[in-house]
Amino acid sequence: MLAKSTTFKELTLTVVIPTYNEKDNVKPLIALLDETLQTIVWEVVFVDDDSPDGTADEVRRIARKRENVRVIHRVGRRGLSGACIEGILSSSAPFAAVMDGDLQHDERILVSMLAALKEDADVDLVVGSRNVSGGSVGSGLTKIRSLGSDVATFLARRLLKISVNDPMSGFFMVRLESFRGVVEELQMQGFKILTDLLSASRGGWKVIEIPFVFKERKFGESKMDSAVTLEYFGLILARLSGGRLSIRFILFLFVGLTGVLVQLIMVALFLKVLLLSFFYSQILGVVAAMTSNFFLNNVLTYRDQSLIGKQALIGLISFYFVCSLGAVANVAVANIVYSAIPLWVFASFLGSVMSSIWNFMSSRWLTWRIR
Ligand code: GDD
Ligand code: MN
Repeated sequence: MLAKSTTFKELTLTVVIPTYNEKDNVKPLIALLDETLQTIVWEVVFVDDDSPDGTADEVRRIARKRENVRVIHRVGRRGLSGACIEGILSSSAPFAAVMDGDLQHDERILVSMLAALKEDADVDLVVGSRNVSGGSVGSGLTKIRSLGSDVATFLARRLLKISVNDPMSGFFMVRLESFRGVVEELQMQGFKILTDLLSASRGGWKVIEIPFVFKERKFGESKMDSAVTLEYFGLILARLSGGRLSIRFILFLFVGLTGVLVQLIMVALFLKVLLLSFFYSQILGVVAAMTSNFFLNNVLTYRDQSLIGKQALIGLISFYFVCSLGAVANVAVANIVYSAIPLWVFASFLGSVMSSIWNFMSSRWLTWRIR
């Protein structure tokens, strides 16, 4: 008997769509891709972080009947950049695009993006840009967000030496070989994967920008919030460290610094207003700082795995426990340094650095690992 020969068409493009509560956008989005990508062998991968609205189920419903629709359903995790990275890595195609799942990105430029990568083997990345002639933010962003985006772009260009006009775009297509070359230093946390990519490529990539008009969102709502802004500053610092420090570590240090302030203010209050002894003021100040550190870390540093309800209470107690050891480390280091170099600011600063590192390492293992 002759074996039946099957011919497979070679996959060219994976479109990665990160989603969180985009159920109503799934079907229209796939229809738009169908229309645009007729001459291309492509697939679409939705990377969904267990959206409560059932986005993943909606994708599965369609994927059951179609071989070029897939879903990566992640549980217990949140994060736009991480979702994009996982989606891209899941691709077996030579090229992958990242596009928002809310119909704000103009899918029609995917064809010219792909052509640019195919035509010139030196091109590593094509950016869907709102800031080059022909592109614009249209009515896609509010005035204040548009301003924020301009400031963020300015910072990326100045501090990270990125020459692209729209490093804040969430719409791009990349050559997978190039992507895999830098993926290990990318940050999973955060919103701005393109900025991270461009910085990680250290100016060594050939990048092309293709204009598009950012559309208004029809269904669902934006997930951008104030934590995203702080995460962005974290990303800039992470990149300035050459990718060696994580956004998480930087946010943890930032929260630690606010803790120092909280402590000083509280000690002053107990000491000067409530006239407690220094000993008790100090203890209460430390407890106040630990408490505010815990809640800030929970909504910022670890917002992808925020503890709520009873878990938050258990987390707070474990955080107290973990930090109490850090406080001992702090005092010990400060003492040793002070006996060698009697400069109290210097000694106490080193002590707090020591306890910050200690607190980061141990709370990472104890507090936010508890499920
Ligand atoms: N898997 C996953 N996990 N997806 C997410 C998450 C998450 O934690 N947060 C957001 N998304 C998805 C959304 O469902 C949407 O498909 C896409 O990521 C973009 O999120 P939006 O909430 O719509 O972001 P935006 O419109 O405010 O911001 C977009 O435009 C900015 C330019 O101003 C994004 O493309 C940004 O990356 C871009 O910088
Ligand atoms: Mn959007």
